[in-house]
Amino acid sequence: MPGDQPADLSQTAIDAVVADALGAFAAASTSAELKEARLAHVGERSPLALANRAIGTLPGPERKDAGQRLGAARAAVNAALAEREAGIGAAELTQRLAAERIDVTLPVELAPEGAPHPITALMDLMGDVFVAMGWEIAEGPEAEGEWLNFDALNIGPDHPARGTTDTLFVAPLENHIVLRTHTSPVQIRSMLDRPLPIYVVCPGKVYRADEFDATHVPVFHQIEGLVVDKGISLAHLKGTLDHLARSMFGDGIETRMRPHYFPFTEPSAEVDLKCFVCRGESVGNPDAPCRTCKSQGWIEWGGCGVVNPRVLAACGIDTDTYSGFAFGMGIERTLMFRNNAADMRDMVEGDVRFSRSLKGMAR
Ligand code: DAH
Repeated sequence: MPGDQPADLSQTAIDAVVADALGAFAAASTSAELKEARLAHVGERSPLALANRAIGTLPGPERKDAGQRLGAARAAVNAALAEREAGIGAAELTQRLAAERIDVTLPVELAPEGAPHPITALMDLMGDVFVAMGWEIAEGPEAEGEWLNFDALNIGPDHPARGTTDTLFVAPLENHIVLRTHTSPVQIRSMLDRPLPIYVVCPGKVYRADEFDATHVPVFHQIEGLVVDKGISLAHLKGTLDHLARSMFGDGIETRMRPHYFPFTEPSAEVDLKCFVCRGESVGNPDAPCRTCKSQGWIEWGGCGVVNPRVLAACGIDTDTYSGFAFGMGIERTLMFRNNAADMRDMVEGDVRFSRSLKGMAR
């Protein structure tokens, strides 16, 4: 072991050891290199440490002299090491800060945001128009009893809509369960379940045995309205529809009722919407035709009427005291008009780009 050999404690030897150490520190350019140099030149097995240990073996006067000289040498080496450590530490910090620098002005890639489906958003929006007037939202099941979907609504057993070509039945047939063909059975449920007076809207899915194309889907959505109260007339219905039309399409858009037949209302009407594109100005004006209403000035929107007393009676409501009105319209149709969605297939395919394109429309 080097420590067993008599250490050379001459000033020349000490100077050489110091010079060696200082040279090694200066040559180190990273903290890892400096650590190596430190172990070699001030570590336990370094020449300086060995020399220090050797001092103890010297006779008195020599020991003092060598101790002082070696002390000065070690102080010089430690000071040089500390200085170099500080220098390398600072340089490395600067380097790291530069390497890890973040440009806070760079655009961030955000997680893609979804959007409520436009049909859902529009149903909510239409519901809100009524909730704001104090009406309630009523709901019913999509698989519905045949009696509620047809009979209670005065749609007789021989009505063509009750056949399997128009209506989807839940097997087996003798259970008399259909996928509801309109939201009107929720009228019956509301009259059976709720205390009078009744002011409800019923938004929801409905089903028909239709082919799927640009204007037909076998599953679509309607919103139904029902009021049963004392002294209700067609005038209340007209005012309600006009309010809904203005809320959906803006001021100046009103409705028109065209006589029609529905078994559950008497009198019945189809509701037309004043064309929100030409506002009726294309009528009799060949110079400014309107594609939206085909220059008719009106667009068919839904059905409505005064609730047939037979329907009220089927729900146990006293028809001498109470009367009501009802209406129903398609949500898809409303979305087509209101938001220029031309193809119904877009509404069922679930492509998020369609939802995003109409995001915020419900404002
Ligand atoms: N249920 C009818 C349909 O699906 C729409 C309708 C017409 C609803 C007249 C009503 C109404 O409430 O009074 O075609």
